[in-house]
Amino acid sequence: MSWGLSNRISRIMKGGRTVMLAVDHGYFQGPTTGLENPRRTITPLLPFADSLMLTRGVLRTSVDPGQSVPIVLRVTGGTSILKELSNEVVVTSIEEAVRLNASAVAVSVFVGSEHEKQTLANLAQLVDEGERYGMPVLAVTAVGREMTRDARYLGLACRIAAELGASVVKTYYCEDFRKVVDGCPVPVVIAGGKKLPERDALQLAHDAISEGAVGVDMGRNIFQSTNPVGMIKAVQAVVHAGKGVDDAFHVFNEEEKASAKLR
Ligand code: 5RP
Repeated sequence: MSWGLSNRISRIMKGGRTVMLAVDHGYFQGPTTGLENPRRTITPLLPFADSLMLTRGVLRTSVDPGQSVPIVLRVTGGTSILKELSNEVVVTSIEEAVRLNASAVAVSVFVGSEHEKQTLANLAQLVDEGERYGMPVLAVTAVGREMTRDARYLGLACRIAAELGASVVKTYYCEDFRKVVDGCPVPVVIAGGKKLPERDALQLAHDAISEGAVGVDMGRNIFQSTNPVGMIKAVQAVVHAGKGVDDAFHVFNEEEKASAKLR
């Protein structure tokens, strides 16, 4: 692994663990609930995010260049919720990622979906180009509607992503998650998925870490929370401080109480 690639990965991973804040949903969903005004949502969360996953459009318009938060740049897309989601192409080049001082690029793979091969080719192409510039690639195992989020399917998708050269793989938590992690020779982070009650989302993060995930790349369960800052602090407590769910939920509740006093 080149020094540049290792250096970029170490910007994202703090002591081998990471809390990535995913705010890239608009690239196919438009103005997702909680992200209607990206700057307003992102700004208060920045001090607590180990990295920010987003598109170049939101990066340029909604994050001040003086910010030091490492950027995980979403570079595939070109589809919308109105069409077949797996029909993604590379929409942002590695050169642009370097210009934007990204610490990694993110690409979705849709194993088992209509355009499986095209999305795996996107990943392979980005890994090749990333090697040239020392740019790590985060592969996101997107799950088509027809797929079941179980250890067999997610294990297959994660392993393929790792075999094609991804430096980190993002997937979903599932029963027997340990099998997914054990079969994947690179670090695994989990997405949060649809909004859950805060305690349940913390339980999800806790279970994933206990079963070998190195962290989370979480979006809706943070920015759609009644208290996004409280939630990201609570997730940090699970991922970095090794707190249990009760302690982490306490962190969230205390933050809620403190912000209620200020209102
Ligand atoms: C879409 C993504 C999203 O960023 C990610 O899945 C969102 O995270 P969450 O599920 O926690 O809202 O990569 O493919």
